[in-house]
Amino acid sequence: MRILPIAYLLIIALSFAQDIPSLLKSKGCFSCHDVEKSKIGPPYKVVAREYKGKPDAVKTLVQSITGGSVGKWQGLAKKYGVRIGAFYMPRQPVSKEEAEKIAKWILSLEK
Ligand code: HEC
Repeated sequence: MRILPIAYLLIIALSFAQDIPSLLKSKGCFSCHDVEKSKIGPPYKVVAREYKGKPDAVKTLVQSITGGSVGKWQGLAKKYGVRIGAFYMPRQPVSKEEAEKIAKWILSLEK
């Protein structure tokens, strides 16, 4: 049977692929963010709309996630008609590698 080794490899590959929503959940991001709705922080789809196509989008978002972000969304919230419940986001306990995956996932929400 040649199919079994292939099936095993596939299962191993899939288990290594990081499931971003569960990572966000385990890091507590969803207590302040929703994909669609206004919460304490901007909805991820709106973040995607703001940054999609900008050359430094991933770098900027990684910087905000790992270093914190202050005051940026006061004006942006008005621009997109969303509500923000805090003036700043403290730096988040994720590695740079995790933050990069998260940033790419957020940007992929805007087609
Ligand atoms: C305590 C509430 C809170 C938590 C927890 C939180 N955020 Fe935020 N987040 C905010 C707020 C408030 C802003 C808007 C900051 C601003 O105006 O500069 C924001 C902004 C952002 C932005 C946009 C940054 C930018 O440069 O425009 C991203 C991306 C983001 N958060 C991702 C995350 C991720 C990923 C996590 C979890 C690891 C997380 N946030 C956890 C409150 C939070």
